[in-house]
Amino acid sequence: MRLYINDGWEFTEEYSDELLSVNGVSTLNKIRIPHTTKEVAYNYFDESEYQMLCGYRRVIKADSSWKEYAVILNFEGIGHDSTVYLNGHEIGSHHCGYTAFAIDITDKLDYQKDNVLVVKVDSRESLNTPPFGFVIDYMTFGGIYRDVYLDIRGTSYIEDAFAKTCIGSIEETCGKDASIETELLIHNPKPDMIVRQYIRIKEGEADYHVLSKEIGIQTGVETYNLVQKLDEVKLWDIDTPNLYELKTQLIDAGQVIDEKIVTVGFRTALFAKDGFYLNGRKVKLRGLNRHQSYPYVGYAMPESMQKLDADILKFELGLNAVRTSHYPQSQYFIDRCDELGLLVFTEIPGWQHIGNQEWKEQAVKNVEDMILQYRNHPSIILWGVRINESVDDDEFYTRTNALARKLDPTRQTGGVRCYKKGSMLEDVYTYNDFSHEGTNKGCEPKKNITSDNDKPYLISEYNGHMFPCKSFDWEEKRTEHALRHARVLDEVAGQQDIAGSFGWCMFDYNTHKDFGSGDRICYHGVMDMFRNPKLAAAVYASQQEESPVLEISSSFDIGEHPGCNRNEIYIFSNADSVKMYKNDILIKEYKMSEGICKNMIHSPVKVDDYIGDALERGENMSHKQAADVKEILNEVAGVGLYHLSKKMMAKAMLVSVKYRMKMSQAVELFNKYVGDWGGESTAYRFEAIKDGKVIATRTKKPMKQWTIQAKLDHKELVEKVSYDVALVRLHAVDEAGNILSYFHEPVRLSTSGPIEIIGSNVITLPGGMGGTYIRTTGESGEAKLIIEAAGHRTEICVTVKA
Ligand code: GAL
Repeated sequence: MRLYINDGWEFTEEYSDELLSVNGVSTLNKIRIPHTTKEVAYNYFDESEYQMLCGYRRVIKADSSWKEYAVILNFEGIGHDSTVYLNGHEIGSHHCGYTAFAIDITDKLDYQKDNVLVVKVDSRESLNTPPFGFVIDYMTFGGIYRDVYLDIRGTSYIEDAFAKTCIGSIEETCGKDASIETELLIHNPKPDMIVRQYIRIKEGEADYHVLSKEIGIQTGVETYNLVQKLDEVKLWDIDTPNLYELKTQLIDAGQVIDEKIVTVGFRTALFAKDGFYLNGRKVKLRGLNRHQSYPYVGYAMPESMQKLDADILKFELGLNAVRTSHYPQSQYFIDRCDELGLLVFTEIPGWQHIGNQEWKEQAVKNVEDMILQYRNHPSIILWGVRINESVDDDEFYTRTNALARKLDPTRQTGGVRCYKKGSMLEDVYTYNDFSHEGTNKGCEPKKNITSDNDKPYLISEYNGHMFPCKSFDWEEKRTEHALRHARVLDEVAGQQDIAGSFGWCMFDYNTHKDFGSGDRICYHGVMDMFRNPKLAAAVYASQQEESPVLEISSSFDIGEHPGCNRNEIYIFSNADSVKMYKNDILIKEYKMSEGICKNMIHSPVKVDDYIGDALERGENMSHKQAADVKEILNEVAGVGLYHLSKKMMAKAMLVSVKYRMKMSQAVELFNKYVGDWGGESTAYRFEAIKDGKVIATRTKKPMKQWTIQAKLDHKELVEKVSYDVALVRLHAVDEAGNILSYFHEPVRLSTSGPIEIIGSNVITLPGGMGGTYIRTTGESGEAKLIIEAAGHRTEICVTVKA
C-alpha cells in the first residue's frame, strides 16, 4: 500500500531545532508538496532568494493496522541537502537534490501519539555536493519539490526488482525470442517463501499471465536472479512504445505478502561506431536538452506538468529523444517518455566543476542512486556518468563508469564534455559541439572530436549561448536562430557516423547572474519559459509527419528591417509543397524538397518571388522581359537598391537599355508589385499541400484587430496525490492567428472557483506570448480563469476534482 503524504505540511524559512520538539505548537505556514522554498519573480530576482536553511514539519498518525508491516518513508526529491527527524531523533539524511531516498521507519513509529516528522532542508549553494562548488548555468531551486509517500509493506518485501528484458541478439527486429531476467533484492528473506511473476501488456484491461518459473527463498540470501522465457512480445519502439507490467509477488504459506509491479519494454538500444540502433534499426537521434524548471515555482511542479513537457517534446516539437540536462528528472517525466517512445539520455548532477574527494564520493553515490532508481525505464538509452563539461579525471571517471556497468550491464555509458579527444572511458563519446557560428558548417565531423574513432559518437549540445534569442527579438534574429538550428540538424543528418544530436535547449530557463541576459533568464530555448514556441521550434516540429506544420518567418512588415528591405524570408513546413498567394493570386508554388538544407527531412525553403507572373499579366511584358525585371525586383525586395549584387547591378543596366526602361519606371513597378505601400492591404497567403490536399494555411496581412488566445493543456484538473496544475499559454494574435510580437498591453488574470494563479496576476506577453499556471486548492467544483487586457476579456473554464 502506498500512502502519499504531500498534504498537511508546515514550512519555515528558518530552521531551528525547536521544530523537533514533539508537542511544539506550530504557527508555521501550511504548505503542500511539491513545494519550493521561495516563489520567485518571472525574472530579475536574485538567486540568494531560494537559498536557505529551512524546515518542514508534518504530523504522522501511525495506524495500528501498520503494526504488522514494514513502513518505509520515501522522498522523491528534495533540493538539496536533507536531514530527516522523527519524534526528535535523526533518522536519515540525503545529499543530492535530484535523486530519491527512502528511510525504513518501521521501528521508529509511535502508535500511541502523533509522530512529528521534521526535514531540515539546506538549499544553499555553498554545499559541498554536486553540482555546487563553482558557477552553474541554471538556478538550483530548493525545497521538497517532488512527492513524499509511505510504503506499507510486508515485513519481508521485495526491495528492488531490476527487470532486464531481452529479445535475442542486438540485431533482432522482432519479439519472437523474448525473455526477461529479474534481479531481485529481498528484504528480510525467510525460508519457504516463494517468488512468482506475472506479466501483462499495459494497454487496456489486459489480464496478467503467470510466468512459468518460481524461486524459493533461502534464509539469509537477499539476492536472486529469475529468468523467464516468454511467448512472442510486442517491441517497445519510438512509434509503438508497447509497455508491459511485470508483477513480482513474494508469497509466504500461500499468502501474497508483498508485490512489486515494474513497467518494462522489450527493445534493444545500441550506440555503434556508425550510429544509434534501436531494435536493429538505425535511428538518428533528434532531441533537445530539458531543464526541470518552471516560472515562479522553480522545480516544484506536479505530475501533470512533468508529463506535459514530454508530450510537448514528442508532439509539438516532433522529437525522438531528450537529454535530462544536467541531472535525473522526475519519474513522472520519464514514465511519460516510456509511454510516448521518447528516448532519454540521463545523467548525474553537475556542471563543469569537480570538487574534493568528499564531493566525488557523493558524485559516485549519485551514479548509484540514478541507476538503481531509473534502470527499469525502457526509454533510457544512455547513462551520463561524467559531470557535464568537466575536465578529464581518469580515476574518478573510471569509478563512475565501472559502477554504471556493474549496476546496469544492459546500457552504455556516456559523459558530456566540451573538449575534443578526451580520455575515452565511456562507451559513447558525447560532446557539446558549439562550432556553428552561422556561416560555417553545422557541426564538426566525428573524426575531429573523438579520441577513438571506433567508438560511437553523439552530439549532446549545440547552439545555446552561440546565439541566444528572445521571443521578443526582432524578426531577422528570430529567423537566424531558427536557421542555425536547421543547419546543425542538417549537418548531423548528413554525417552517417554521428548517432544524433541534442540541441540547447527546449525552453528558456532562469539562471545565475553569471549567465543569461542580466534578468536571470538564459534565452537559449526554442520555446520560452511557458513553453510557447519560438520560430526555431518550427524547425523541429516540421521534421515529423504526423501533424501539419506551416510557419513563415516574416510578418511582411518592412519597417521591421533596416532600410525597409525584407531580407530573407523562409517557409518551415513538412508538406510536399507550399503555394504562396498575393491577394489570392498565385505567386509561386515552392517544392519543399528544394530547400536550403540538403540532408534533413524537411528543410526550410527560401521565399524568392513576390511577383509571380504579374508583370506579364498586368504590364503587357513579354515572358522574357517579365522574367528579367522580376529577378531584379525580387532581389531589391530582399537587400534594397543599393546592396544589389554586382551581377544584378549589371543585369539591371542591361535590362534598362534592352527594354528602354527608366529608373522611375522600375521604382513604380517595385512600389506596385513588391512595395505594398498604400491602397488596399496586401495579403500573403500560404497553403501547405501534402498528397494533393491543403493541410495548413497561413495568412500575413496588416492586422486590424487583436485578441488573446488562451491554450489550456488540460481541462479537468484532478487532485490525485497532491494539487494539480494546468498550463495556460497566452498568445496575442491578429485575425489570422499570427502572433503579435510587439504586443505590450498588461494582461490581468483573476479566478473564480477552486483554483489559484501561480505567480503574478498582472503579466505581459513578451514577444506576443506568455502564460500562467492555475493550481487547484483542495476543493472540487467548476472554476474559471479570467483574462483581461485593454477591454478584451477571455474566460477559460475548468473542472476540478479533489
Ligand atoms: C553548455 C552547458 C549548458 C548550457 C549551454 C549554453 O556549455 O553544458 O548547461 O550552459 O552551454 O549554451
